[in-house]
Amino acid sequence: MNITFIGGGNMARALIGGLQASGDHQLSAVDPSPEARTALQAFSDLKVYSNPPPELAHSDVVVLAVKPQVLTSVLHELAPAIAPKTCLLSVAAGFSIAAMESALQRSQPIVRCMPNTPALLGYGITGLFASAACGPQERTAAEQIMGAVGATVWVHEEDEINAVTALSGSGPAYFYLMIEALRDAGEQLGLTRETATSLAIQTARGAGAMAARADTDPATLRAQVTSPGGTTAAGIKALEAGGFQDLIERAARAARDRGRELAAGGEA
Ligand SMILES: NC(=O)c1ccc[n+]([C@@H]2O[C@H](COP(=O)([O-])OP(=O)(O)OC[C@H]3O[C@@H](n4cnc5c(N)ncnc54)[C@H](OP(=O)(O)O)[C@@H]3O)[C@@H](O)[C@H]2O)c1
Repeated sequence: MNITFIGGGNMARALIGGLQASGDHQLSAVDPSPEARTALQAFSDLKVYSNPPPELAHSDVVVLAVKPQVLTSVLHELAPAIAPKTCLLSVAAGFSIAAMESALQRSQPIVRCMPNTPALLGYGITGLFASAACGPQERTAAEQIMGAVGATVWVHEEDEINAVTALSGSGPAYFYLMIEALRDAGEQLGLTRETATSLAIQTARGAGAMAARADTDPATLRAQVTSPGGTTAAGIKALEAGGFQDLIERAARAARDRGRELAAGGEA
């Protein structure tokens, strides 16, 4: 595929690294920032530009990897430079397909992507939503590109992207908070901060790896470590008495609602 990145920051570089490792693509990146262009020069076989080049018209996919605040002006600039059939892949949070088509002043195959920060290490998961103008070819291209930095899942209503944001977009922060809380609890129980931190982080990593195995449900895994009357049962009982599951649902709902507000142009 011939893929051009508009914006060559953290997310673009993660995708470029993943794509170079996973296939034979012709890749270019456009970024006005000299620092970003210097970082991009680290990739061999990547064409780097400060402004959109004329050959943008021949790209199969243009990945919009800029901050949402500059996306409208980027789309104004790109509209005459790209073919109406070129697939656009946007990773910009909170920017709807209608808003992108309004900036382009036409319909275009667009895939909205909501990746998360573990994508920077290749352990991401991306929620994808395709505009009505997308066919199987555009969907496959989007899966291939975002699949270069982790797993992908499709949603069938655009609003569900806000739920994806609430779960996996914001989700890493919930797990970091859990790690912090477990570390602090460990210190309260008399462990050194270093020991408590190692125990909390490695336990999160191990539990994630166990849960990621396709053959076992998380509830089954939990039951396997929760002997009746045992230590884990005592800990889980305290979490449930504190309304843990309800709290997580409220957190996800709050994040989803905030995503909707921001997408509607609410206060940032
Ligand atoms: N990083 C993540 O894990 C993550 C997760 C989910 C979603 N996203 C989304 O991915 C997008 C990019 O995030 P990021 O972390 O990669 O941001 P970033 O590191 O700031 O990269 C964006 C790059 O775009 C450049 N840029 C600004 N205006 C441009 C223009 N007109 N044409 C081309 N490039 C331009 C910026 O240059 P300047 O610095 O000079 O402005 C910067 O180098 C954002 O919309 C973000 O919401 C990122």
